[in-house]
Amino acid sequence: MELCSKFRSAQVIASVLSLLIWEILSLQAGAGGQISYSAIECRKHTALLTDFGGVGDGKTSNTKAFNSAIANLSQFASDGGAQLIVPPGKWLTGSFNLTSHFTLYIHQGAVLLASQDESEWPHLAVLPSYGRGRDAPGGRFSSLIFGTNLTDVVITGGNGTIDGQGEIWWQKFRGEKLNDTRPYLIEIMYSKNIQISNITLLNSPSWNVHPIYSSDILVQGLTILAPIDSPNTDGINPDSCTNTRIEDCYIVSGDDCIAVKSGWDQYGTKFGMPTQHLVIRRLTCISPDSATIALGSEMSGGIRDVRAEDITAIDTQSGVRIKTAVGRGGYVKDIFVRRMIMKTMKYVFWMTGSYGSHPDPGYDPKALPEITGINYRDMVAENVTYSARLEGIQNHPFTGICISNVTIGLTEKPKKLQWNCTDVQGVTSRVMPPACDLLPEKKKQTDCFFPEDKLPIDNVQLKTCYVRH
Ligand SMILES: *[C@@H]1O[C@H](CO)[C@@H](O)[C@H](O)[C@H]1NC(C)=O
Ligand SMILES: *[C@@H]1O[C@H](CO)[C@@H](O)[C@H](O)[C@H]1NC(C)=O
Ligand SMILES: *[C@@H]1O[C@H](CO)[C@@H](O)[C@H](O)[C@H]1NC(C)=O
Ligand SMILES: *[C@@H]1O[C@H](CO)[C@@H](O)[C@H](O)[C@H]1NC(C)=O
Ligand SMILES: *[C@@H]1O[C@H](CO)[C@@H](O)[C@H](O)[C@H]1NC(C)=O
Ligand SMILES: *[C@@H]1O[C@H](CO)[C@@H](O)[C@H](O)[C@H]1NC(C)=O
Ligand SMILES: *[C@@H]1O[C@H](CO)[C@@H](O)[C@H](O)[C@H]1NC(C)=O
Ligand SMILES: *[C@@H]1O[C@H](CO)[C@@H](O)[C@H](O)[C@H]1NC(C)=O
Ligand SMILES: *[C@@H]1O[C@H](CO)[C@@H](O)[C@H](O)[C@H]1NC(C)=O
Repeated sequence: MELCSKFRSAQVIASVLSLLIWEILSLQAGAGGQISYSAIECRKHTALLTDFGGVGDGKTSNTKAFNSAIANLSQFASDGGAQLIVPPGKWLTGSFNLTSHFTLYIHQGAVLLASQDESEWPHLAVLPSYGRGRDAPGGRFSSLIFGTNLTDVVITGGNGTIDGQGEIWWQKFRGEKLNDTRPYLIEIMYSKNIQISNITLLNSPSWNVHPIYSSDILVQGLTILAPIDSPNTDGINPDSCTNTRIEDCYIVSGDDCIAVKSGWDQYGTKFGMPTQHLVIRRLTCISPDSATIALGSEMSGGIRDVRAEDITAIDTQSGVRIKTAVGRGGYVKDIFVRRMIMKTMKYVFWMTGSYGSHPDPGYDPKALPEITGINYRDMVAENVTYSARLEGIQNHPFTGICISNVTIGLTEKPKKLQWNCTDVQGVTSRVMPPACDLLPEKKKQTDCFFPEDKLPIDNVQLKTCYVRH
């Protein structure tokens, strides 16, 4: 009996082992094997882009192939969902739309090349919370990968690439040759349960990843690269979204690495949808003319409960930056940031209450933004030009600012006025160099608050899914 059961468990162990070895081998095998990935849902049905006439030669347009593949696979939404595999190759494509209960898997050797032919980019109406296009008062080009009114969508890969080929758009923008707002690489609207992970985004025409009016969004393992002088190539822009988790991203760009938004002036106020319950972890940012994390400037629907930790910024203009203006209305409150490392920064802390740019003259000049409950702690910075530039709104100060345990090393030729504060209120504790009089040092040593509870988006469990190819 005993022998028998011992023998049986040995057998079980052996078969588990061989299964493991087989999986490891097939993971490394590439073509002919099986690849695993992590996702919020796995899919019952699988298709390759080539099943729908896709050609990966870098020259043939695959817009039709993507659209017919996704139209076809959308019929499986209520039957276990479907995954579309983009195999190794160069796949030129214009804009296409996603569907629900769907995974787009971009293979390690696959590159989606964004078409430079404007006729491949449909026009969309302006966003209701903006009232106009961001670049120009006209409409906007659809994003390369667009989804609206969806649930349960995954865009992932083994670090496959989406190349926006943005140069031509940057030139047109600089030459004021566009009547419509440039496309983004990925935009998801009015949707929930979204995952965007383990892909590389290159040279977007404008913003890279724009979830808007959506909830339950997981963004993991993105590499986002654009020239540091490219216009408006923001990394990730959560906009009027609830429950978003952004982790393990590496971003080099010409604009803010992460820009948190919620609509623009009177349009954002009327739409009234905040960005809230946002987690940002383990972000590395390089952006010499912009912020690591910007809050605003479009924040008229409100921004609250943002938790950022373990952030690295190198050669970046500022750390966390609050951008707002009279006319915005809305609020930025309950912001928590801890454990930031910064190297070669113009500003560590920057808040601006006079950030211009209004959608049109119809904004309400009496709409004052509330900026309160801003908590920064446990930061080290070196080679800094200005420790802080904190500019609130006259007769309407930014309040509840708390900064603790921050050590700032200065450049060889630092500015004399290291903490330039106007119209702000708050406290500091163990901050070097010492802060301004408006942020007095607390007598009793204080740590600024950082919430320790988990948000619902922290409890999302990923499943192991497979791609056979
Ligand atoms: C992304 O890739 C990393 C490294 O290969 C892996 O550990 C992680 O599980 C992946 N995440 C997702 C969401 O696919
Ligand atoms: C689309 O789906 C149907 C099943 O409804 C299938 O028979 C057909 O072959 C699919 N089209 C392509 C091009 O794979
Ligand atoms: C994608 O969706 C948008 C918005 O619903 C729509 O205007 C556009 O025509 C769709 N594109 C395709 C190819 O179906
Ligand atoms: C998408 O959802 C929004 C908000 O619920 C709604 O106003 C809009 O009509 C929906 N669009 C489509 C195409 O279903
Ligand atoms: C993904 O690809 C980019 C660009 O080639 C590279 O810089 C990055 O290190 C890669 N990431 C991973 C996790 O392999
Ligand atoms: C932009 O609009 C102007 C004035 O309506 C028009 O002359 C021009 O051709 C348009 N440009 C493009 C690229 O559509
Ligand atoms: C102060 O911040 C540094 C850098 O993040 C950290 O290593 C240290 O533990 C913090 N000290 C306290 C008392 O929290
Ligand atoms: C320090 O910052 C200055 C810009 O203020 C830069 O030119 C210099 O290279 C940086 N030094 C180091 C060691 O990174
Ligand atoms: C201090 O900040 C104010 C408002 O942002 C600005 O106008 C002023 O030039 C700054 N002063 C110095 C010495 O940097």
